[in-house]
Amino acid sequence: MKVGVFDSGLGGLTVVSSIENIFKGGELFYVADTEYSPYGEKSATEILNRCENITNYLIKTHQIEALVIACNTATSAAITHLRTHFPSLIVIGTEPGVKPAILKTQTSNVGVLATPATLKGDKYQLLVNELSNIKKVTLYEQACIGLVEQIENGETNSPKTFQMLENWLLPMKNNNVDTIVLGCTHYPLVEDTIKKIMGNETTIISTGDAIANRLKLLSQEKGHINEGSLKIDICHTGNINHQMIKKIVKNKNIKIRKCTI
Ligand code: DGL
Repeated sequence: MKVGVFDSGLGGLTVVSSIENIFKGGELFYVADTEYSPYGEKSATEILNRCENITNYLIKTHQIEALVIACNTATSAAITHLRTHFPSLIVIGTEPGVKPAILKTQTSNVGVLATPATLKGDKYQLLVNELSNIKKVTLYEQACIGLVEQIENGETNSPKTFQMLENWLLPMKNNNVDTIVLGCTHYPLVEDTIKKIMGNETTIISTGDAIANRLKLLSQEKGHINEGSLKIDICHTGNINHQMIKKIVKNKNIKIRKCTI
């Protein structure tokens, strides 16, 4: 099975890291669209255009059979359109794990960190409305403007990143939030900093493992035999921090190159 995965940059590699734990014997083509990063501060139309171009590129260049949109922001803006336009492709998206957080919280106070575009998007609003019937929970939503850039620069642990997160998280901590949803695939890369601020007992919800399981299941349904090694090929449209890639992806035989899409 040939699988395409994309995100605006390094964030989707947190999903690749989950995929490589359980998905075997395929080829994975990753696009880091760093030339157009961050997506979260762009309009839905701009994001949709990038998603369509990248999907066309992955189909034409690599003949992918499955696509993982390893980005909450891109999923919100484009998944419906991509599913309609590429009906024979398996398309798996990423959504903030609000449901598991609601089920898990003991204090009924949940924090959601995401990009402005994700929080504003209809998809997120629909999800929250649907879930409001399950249990009465107060959601503390925070658009983390500038955090993706810090992570792309490799500043996962810098004083500036710490301070940004502290400003966003302290009001949540003071309101007894015990569960935090990482609604952007970049944010697992600052999970340690989040825990330092919130305390180790805070539950952090990310969705990489659920996406990897879904990919394995849907590809096996289409005849994929989950055995052997997984080849990973990464292309980036703008600059990318190679050291960060090596920290996130375990596979040591990855190919990394620049591409124009
Ligand atoms: N990693 C992306 C997400 O999951 C967003 C990053 C960006 O704003 O470009 O939402």
